[in-house]
Amino acid sequence: MDEAALRAQLAALGGSLFARGYSVGTAGNISVRLPDGFLMTPTNSCLGRLDPARISKLAPDFSHVSGDKPSKEVFMHRAVLTARPDAGAVVHLHSTHATAIACLAEPGEFAPIPPLTPYFVMRVGRFLPVIRYYRPGDGAMEKDIHEAAKGAKAVLLANHGPVVSGRTLEDAVHAAEELEEAARLALLLRGAGARSLTPAQVDDLLNTFG
Ligand code: 13P
Repeated sequence: MDEAALRAQLAALGGSLFARGYSVGTAGNISVRLPDGFLMTPTNSCLGRLDPARISKLAPDFSHVSGDKPSKEVFMHRAVLTARPDAGAVVHLHSTHATAIACLAEPGEFAPIPPLTPYFVMRVGRFLPVIRYYRPGDGAMEKDIHEAAKGAKAVLLANHGPVVSGRTLEDAVHAAEELEEAARLALLLRGAGARSLTPAQVDDLLNTFG
């Protein structure tokens, strides 16, 4: 997909996430890897009203090249995109249920959402490391996220929200949606003695679809 098509896809998927309540106000940001750098949603932009022409473009060293001023979370995206060379995109949301889990889970925890359903395991994987709280935009979060992202497609930022990567932008959006659904199920079933997939079932999914 060329850059113009990716810009259009980014605006369309941002609009879809916003319309379905995965992001409110100006929360959330998205980055996409290009052959000559990255696209990044502008700071203080609403995912529901992105103008493809004004999306920020970053150089391979993540410096601002063109478009509006990029998200304050460039460090967060750089942490994942450099840890995962196979990742084509990163989606950060404040989606309600994943953020609720991020408020309950202990920093350092690796699996705050149980493997209740196959699609959570297939899209997000076995681990969802919980990173300690940092102020939004704080560059100090980069190191922790970078280390955790080497072994996980997604991380949860304590009291903030999920950061999810994917091979493509569409993959990252799908994984962010599955993560939000899994978080919702986990909260719905909290204390109900729900049956999780067994380790063998998780292995089977990851061997087949991972
Ligand atoms: P930006 O508007 O700078 O992208 O920040 C929004 C956000 O989600 C902070 O975590």
